[in-house]
Amino acid sequence: MPEKGIFELTGEVALVTGGAAGMGRAIAARMGEAGAQVVVVDKDSETPAIVAKHLPGAAHVVADISLPHVHEDIVARAAQPFGVPTILVNDAGIYPSVAMLDATPEFFDLVYDTNLRGLAMMSVAFSRSVISAGRKGWIVNIASVDGLKPSLVSGLAPYAATKGAVIALTRHMAVELAEHGISVNGIAPGTVLTDGVVKGLGGGSEEAAREALAPLVAKNPTKRVADPDDIAKVAVFLASPAADYVRGQTIVVDGGWTLN
Ligand SMILES: NC(=O)c1ccc[n+]([C@@H]2O[C@H](COP(=O)([O-])OP(=O)(O)OC[C@H]3O[C@@H](n4cnc5c(N)ncnc54)[C@H](O)[C@@H]3O)[C@@H](O)[C@H]2O)c1
Repeated sequence: MPEKGIFELTGEVALVTGGAAGMGRAIAARMGEAGAQVVVVDKDSETPAIVAKHLPGAAHVVADISLPHVHEDIVARAAQPFGVPTILVNDAGIYPSVAMLDATPEFFDLVYDTNLRGLAMMSVAFSRSVISAGRKGWIVNIASVDGLKPSLVSGLAPYAATKGAVIALTRHMAVELAEHGISVNGIAPGTVLTDGVVKGLGGGSEEAAREALAPLVAKNPTKRVADPDDIAKVAVFLASPAADYVRGQTIVVDGGWTLN
């Protein structure tokens, strides 16, 4: 077989959690374009229709990664259409906000179960499957700049704590899994205009979300908010032969926001 191009994912199967919307959908599209066969894992019951409409050729598994003891089954189901997944993009995440003084144990559990435990257990199930198939693997974890420094938007402390933990987990997994041929890296996006942000900040209106984000955009060196594709392109890089010697890094993709 000829050697793969440095940004090519031909011959790989990419499992993208949260791939029915926002950044996950853009990542799934770019992974497919780079040659991977794509399986979207998402809890949204509309996932089959969304994948059929926006990601032709991709497969789907409707599943909730926040539940305990589901991850081996999710990876096994994701292996059915195209074979064992060799790329895992841990994108599924939630960002509800609460003032620190109003936070409850239930609120912390809610954010933690998806953003940290779900991501970690998907990685465990994926890694076991890749190792027993005798394949190489790539994990790309979607963290956030909120895991690095406090956001201007208040109420994100529990969320930020999970994302800081994802950055630490990325480093540790990279060290432990390297000997098994699995590469682990992450991305810390700044604010990205995704379906979730349009819903949360704009009440469903992209225009209203853009308006709400205007003060942040004014302080961003690039003077624009990120598009999901800004993140997707970096995810492809981290899963490609071009990133072969990059391990345990969380690349900040924020237009220079955190430089200020
Ligand atoms: N949008 C931003 O500004 C931003 C910035 C930094 C980091 N992030 C992170 O990027 C990721 C994607 O964010 P987004 O804005 O694209 O979100 P989004 O809300 O637009 O899409 C998230 C997708 O994940 C799915 N999902 C959520 N919880 C799930 C679960 N438990 N099991 C399976 N699927 C689940 C949802 O159904 C949805 O399809 C998240 O991890 C988020 O924390 C987002």
